[in-house]
Amino acid sequence: MQDLMNTKIHDETRQGEAFAPAAAVTAAYRKKFYIESYGCQMNFADSEIVAAILNESGFGATRNVEDADLILLNTCSIREKAEQTVRKRLTEFRKIKLVKPGMLVGVLGCMAERLKAKFLEEEKLVDLVVGPDAYRTLPDLVEEAEGGHKAVNVLLSREETYADISPVRLNSNGVSAFVSIMRGCNNMCSFCVVPFTRGRERSRDTPSIVRECTDLFNSGYREVTLLGQNVDSYYWVDESLPATDSRRTITFALLLESVAAISPLLRVRFSTSHPKDITDEVLHTIARHKNICNYIHLPVQSGSTRVLQLMNRTYTREWYMARIDRIRELIPGCGISSDIIAGFCTETEEDHQDTLSLMEYSQYDYGYMFFYSERPGTLAARRYQDDIPLDVKKRRLQEIVDMQYRLSLESNRQDIGKTVEVLIEGDSKKSDQDWMGRSSENKVIVFPKAGFDFKKGDYATVRVTDCNKATLMGKVKEE
Ligand code: 5AD
Ligand code: SF4
Repeated sequence: MQDLMNTKIHDETRQGEAFAPAAAVTAAYRKKFYIESYGCQMNFADSEIVAAILNESGFGATRNVEDADLILLNTCSIREKAEQTVRKRLTEFRKIKLVKPGMLVGVLGCMAERLKAKFLEEEKLVDLVVGPDAYRTLPDLVEEAEGGHKAVNVLLSREETYADISPVRLNSNGVSAFVSIMRGCNNMCSFCVVPFTRGRERSRDTPSIVRECTDLFNSGYREVTLLGQNVDSYYWVDESLPATDSRRTITFALLLESVAAISPLLRVRFSTSHPKDITDEVLHTIARHKNICNYIHLPVQSGSTRVLQLMNRTYTREWYMARIDRIRELIPGCGISSDIIAGFCTETEEDHQDTLSLMEYSQYDYGYMFFYSERPGTLAARRYQDDIPLDVKKRRLQEIVDMQYRLSLESNRQDIGKTVEVLIEGDSKKSDQDWMGRSSENKVIVFPKAGFDFKKGDYATVRVTDCNKATLMGKVKEE
């Protein structure tokens, strides 16, 4: 039986991964921190910024929670389940603190922002509460907490992008890395807590993004994923150029172009796109550059125009379909995935059927699927009643999941016989005799190592011979 609370084919909201750099870092630092991350890719990228800030102030990362002087949880608030998981984890840390009273526990990220100082009352063992825009103050806050005072900073900023901080790559495979290009969100989707927890949207300056990607490439990385809540609204003005200079304003399409120009061997991915904002210019840019991957994550949320309106998504079913048509026209074979919410306020069976039929129309390769979880303070919580019974939400979600499984399998079957270029990420999970990598369309592919001299980070040309709904299987194509 699947866990319907957290149903996924490839769920971007990951659950509590402990992080430390592959190489041991213990010796040079006076103290050790342990960090666990929850939620979206952006949160995982933030943990790498936090690690850099802590390294600077004498804290080295450890993978072993018992060894830590400071335990940090980088939390997510997107659904109630995510928050419950963190609370449970905190009770486990309580046991460690009983035998190690000097150890500090800090809560970072979206839950810190949402609950603020209230957190310290609710969770007595928490010593630090730090919001997503306040990580630079972490060293001071730790010092305060070391002195026995509870420390809180949840100020949101209109400027902070952490542009100058070189993230410490945690648990990295050495091949692909996330690069944050903007922070916050100005869309007001009625179900979503993000505008409240991550504040106003702001873009990071282009030169620092290109520099970070270049450094990654020079240290052996072969793929970057540019991250933002809504990458299509990336916008940066180079004030050093005169107002008349056409290179002064950098849109997302231009940013993609600059990153792709670093090297043809560097793959460029990005997430997340918004159906109302993704431009033809971006699609043409993807089509023009072989190393910008043919894959777009374009969350639809619902297939019903009426529900989309309540969600404040500002597009209709027909608009979304037209964007899908355009992607298929300009980037044939493009991988497309979506986020879908089952059982939003007032959703009827007919609305639900509209979602299923839109999924079929879009022929998604992957889906990230959830049932609606009301979040305090959001527009929907204030305006609408969460009126769909849980059993109905779960049943609809199951139908959505079944549909996606069928679509994923169909999409993978269509690849059998095709030849794809694979960037090798490492050993396959099941066997060290096989490599695992991804196609440009973001499909996971596994193939035998034997007889070839590849290494991690190499590109292999692989013929697809078999598949299941989650993975392609193949063989290296001999010249
Ligand atoms: N309930 C369920 N799912 C949600 N998402 C965002 N907010 C909620 C919520 N309140 C989903 C959306 C979004 C993804 C990151 O999480 O589908 O795109
Ligand atoms: Fe990421 Fe949203 Fe969760 Fe915050 S609430 S961690 S932005 S998914």
